[in-house]
Amino acid sequence: MTTKTQSETMMNLHQCLGSSLLLAVASAQQQQNDHSYDYNSFNQRTYGLDISFPITTPHVSSNYDYLPHNNPQYASPSHPNYVAVPEEFKHMALQRLGDRQYFYDHFMEGCRHHYAAHADYCDETEEERIDMNLRQPPSMMNYTELGFVKVNAPKKVFAALQKFWEENSGSGNEHAEDWDEGNTYTNHWDVPTFMLDVADEKFKGGGEKLQKLIWDGAKSTLEKWTKETLQPCSLYGIRKYGEGAVLAPHVDRLPLVTSAIINVAQDVDEPWPLEVYGHDGMAYNITMEPGEMILYESHSVVHGRPFPLKGRYYANVFIHFEPVGHSVDHGFDPEDETHMATIQDIKSGFNKGLPPYIIDGSLEAAVWRRDNPEHWEHKHKYEADEEEGTGANGAHYASNIGDVEKLTWIIENPQHRKEMIHEHDYNGWLPIHEAARGGHEEIVELLLEHGVDINERTDFGEGQSVLNLAYDYHEEDHPFIQFLLQLGAEDLDSEEEL
Ligand SMILES: *[C@@H]1O[C@H](CO)[C@@H](O)[C@H](O)[C@H]1NC(C)=O
Ligand SMILES: *[C@@H]1O[C@H](CO)[C@@H](O)[C@H](O)[C@H]1NC(C)=O
Repeated sequence: MTTKTQSETMMNLHQCLGSSLLLAVASAQQQQNDHSYDYNSFNQRTYGLDISFPITTPHVSSNYDYLPHNNPQYASPSHPNYVAVPEEFKHMALQRLGDRQYFYDHFMEGCRHHYAAHADYCDETEEERIDMNLRQPPSMMNYTELGFVKVNAPKKVFAALQKFWEENSGSGNEHAEDWDEGNTYTNHWDVPTFMLDVADEKFKGGGEKLQKLIWDGAKSTLEKWTKETLQPCSLYGIRKYGEGAVLAPHVDRLPLVTSAIINVAQDVDEPWPLEVYGHDGMAYNITMEPGEMILYESHSVVHGRPFPLKGRYYANVFIHFEPVGHSVDHGFDPEDETHMATIQDIKSGFNKGLPPYIIDGSLEAAVWRRDNPEHWEHKHKYEADEEEGTGANGAHYASNIGDVEKLTWIIENPQHRKEMIHEHDYNGWLPIHEAARGGHEEIVELLLEHGVDINERTDFGEGQSVLNLAYDYHEEDHPFIQFLLQLGAEDLDSEEEL
């Protein structure tokens, strides 16, 4: 892995900086003996794993750049002060961030002290975190080139979140998060984290409708980015971190695969970086202003906040999805090269019972099969229950991805309620609206055959018509629009601005 990272590093340097620096990183040995830096594609001085915080080993590198054997002046064996690289440092990357081991030891002592009688739980959580960092990323399919990107949050979503935060934060509405004993993901023993629940109706503007608005905004943004159809997994409320907070670098537990973070509000002395390791193996710092959103492949991209927050607070929301193994087939360029062809291979044949994002034969595949005796596609195909947090049922889901077989099965199988095709989700959408968004003609036909009206409106009958939605998601000359017009679909735009 080190070798791969290094050669990729070299390639990037070659592209960004030209070949003079390239020579400097030709081998680990030479790297220790010169003081040039590696730069990531954001032009930040970068480093590999286990430099800022333990990520794949229990320790960070202690090969400090100020040690005599790293002094470039003494690198030549003919120099009178020549210092050979001691054995213990020979394969250790250069530590340029200072004494991060001291920082980490202090972090762990805080946990052990706090959980006194259960101090060993702290070490166990750490072992598990590091184990996952090692095992999970190489076992994963990825859907983007670099693994993360920063964008603006959808305007409507940010406006709603910001309003909700302004009206409800403070005054004891946020509850202290309850971390398991010995949990080391945050240093909550020093800096408790707080949560403001967006789905709680006792808060002004809170409830399922706000939740659904966030789900939908994040979903369409992330689907455009990954070109995969996504299913909601988990949406926390707004988490508030305080001064000195640290988030240990980790990968998310499956099925949290495709995720977004929105900065809702902050009061900071300097931007608080999210450190991520891109698919190029390099560390990146990404900072966000309120209203900005980071999209990231949280199952394979190690991410954390190993540098303590400087400021009063930082409030953000996390939204997590799982790809369901169907490419999004509307509105995007199918020729786009960044959409890796291998994804198609994984999808055909249903990946031998595995979720589409786990590579068969990988370490994680074995773990997944052990923990999930039932085939993944079985679970997904024959699950018709409501989705967690969105109110969508199996008919919404089948209509969204254009799965005619599943929708037919829901309608015809007495085990399910046929009325599901007439049921609203929390946003007041019917399955036919999902079909319009996806542009699935056969689904629309099937729904009409079973008594659904072509002019149903979103928002429990007060929002957009099926045709309005289709115009939002497809070009005007798209055959799907013609198809709807022939069926008598009407333009019934709502008063509400969209
Ligand atoms: C997905 O990304 C992770 C982390 O960057 C990497 O280790 C893994 O090899 C990638 N998967 C594939 C199939 O390239
Ligand atoms: C990220 O920020 C920290 C704290 O400012 C800094 O020490 C580190 O070098 C930065 N890392 C990158 C990749 O820019």
